[in-house]
Amino acid sequence: MMTLETQRLILREWRKTDVSDLFDIMKNSSVIMGGWEPHSNINITGDVLNEYIESDDRWAVSLKDSKKVIGCVRVYPDNNRGNFYAKSINYVLSEDYWGNGYITEAMKRIIKYLFEELDIDLLSAFHYPDNIKSKKVLEKCGFEYEITIEQGSKRFDGKVFDAVCYSILKSDYIENKLHYN
Ligand SMILES: CC(C)(COP(=O)(O)OP(=O)(O)OC[C@H]1O[C@@H](n2cnc3c(N)ncnc32)[C@H](O)[C@@H]1OP(=O)(O)O)[C@@H](O)C(=O)NCCC(=O)NCCS
Repeated sequence: MMTLETQRLILREWRKTDVSDLFDIMKNSSVIMGGWEPHSNINITGDVLNEYIESDDRWAVSLKDSKKVIGCVRVYPDNNRGNFYAKSINYVLSEDYWGNGYITEAMKRIIKYLFEELDIDLLSAFHYPDNIKSKKVLEKCGFEYEITIEQGSKRFDGKVFDAVCYSILKSDYIENKLHYN
């Protein structure tokens, strides 16, 4: 992953040495809101981290001051659209750090990179209907509500939810560009 910087954060590739920070993030039951099964032990985290490193499609969100990794942002093809240049994004932050605007700060920098350097056509994000924190992050980053796909997502435990879809079009990004600087 291309290393990116914000005022308080370094966004970089995942490394094997991040296993205990990733475990701190993923052991918390709150990660269910993002669709992930909480990690019951660090061996699971080790396997997951190997997948992160191999797929190379996620940024580790680390604090500039302490270097601790506190979150993860993934960008992947939007499987709901037959356009390779339509990407989707999801994210998780360690609950100890919620409410400080860290994910919003990371997302704004990544959005700028995706539209200005990777030249994507559209960026989407999907959240469960009751995930108000995620909805707020998306609104603060300039996403607009697009559609709710009924029964659109199946969680790790087989439970099915509607998928609330937000997106940003390249043309809207260009028009509102200053919003992200
Ligand atoms: C969604 C998530 C990444 C937000 O991270 P964050 O860095 O706390 O985001 P922000 O600080 O920008 O806060 C977003 C909103 O959440 C709310 N919020 C954050 N922390 C909160 C807390 N501890 N209690 C209540 N509300 C809180 C605030 O309303 C805030 O909006 P506001 O600044 O307009 O008031 C984080 O809650 C998380 O990891 N959740 C679990 C995984 C998940 O749901 N991922 C999204 C998948 S679609």
